Amino acid sequence: MDRRPRRLDQLLASCGYCSRREARGWLRRGSVTVDGEVERSPDRRVIAGSVRVAGEPLDHPDGLVVVMNKLPGTVCTREEGEGETVFARLPERWLRRHPPLVTAGRLDRDATGLLVLTDDGDKVHAWTSPRRHVAKEYVVMLDREVRAEWAGKFAEGIPIGDDRPCLPARLEGEGGREARLEIHEGRHHQVKRMFAAVGARVLGLHRVRFGPFVVGELAPGAWRVEAGLEGRVAGG
Ligand code: URA
Repeated sequence: MDRRPRRLDQLLASCGYCSRREARGWLRRGSVTVDGEVERSPDRRVIAGSVRVAGEPLDHPDGLVVVMNKLPGTVCTREEGEGETVFARLPERWLRRHPPLVTAGRLDRDATGLLVLTDDGDKVHAWTSPRRHVAKEYVVMLDREVRAEWAGKFAEGIPIGDDRPCLPARLEGEGGREARLEIHEGRHHQVKRMFAAVGARVLGLHRVRFGPFVVGELAPGAWRVEAGLEGRVAGG
């Protein structure tokens, strides 16, 4: 994320407050201060931390990382007409940010659990690049009991119909229909296809971990901003 001084109108627009044209109106009306002084010039270059709008500090000017516990039936797209999107749960201003907030990887419509969203393209790349092998952990409900031999097949790298088998994955299950699976890549419908390859159908898929992030105590549908940026806020 670029933290160099930025044009004031561009900064307000990138944080989702208004368009650059509207920003000029806000500035004319004296709603914006820089270091405590009213600033009316849209091309003044400023450090985000020095700016207040209507007396309030800017909303996450140095980037956002949001962790959400995805609800079943919601989709990880911003396209209209695909049904309820995960983005609809977030503050409206964040949906006007630029660069836009995107999901780092996706979960299927019926899947639940940990979803990471950010406006930082470098982070998305670091977390989703096939070369990085970032760990993802799922709790999976199956249509049959977990069989002991599946762990060995998954550990060797199971073929799922692509040009190469999956990377080694760790499967834990205690004989019931629930299993925990850790994988290090993100192929399309990968978990469902891995279980299909051993003859099982996934009835429920819940992600509990993605790289350094855990879903923890987040209620279904709730989200939090990851600390380390400018503090922590949350919603549900
Ligand atoms: N694997 C799947 O099959 N679905 C997901 O949503 C995530 C991983």
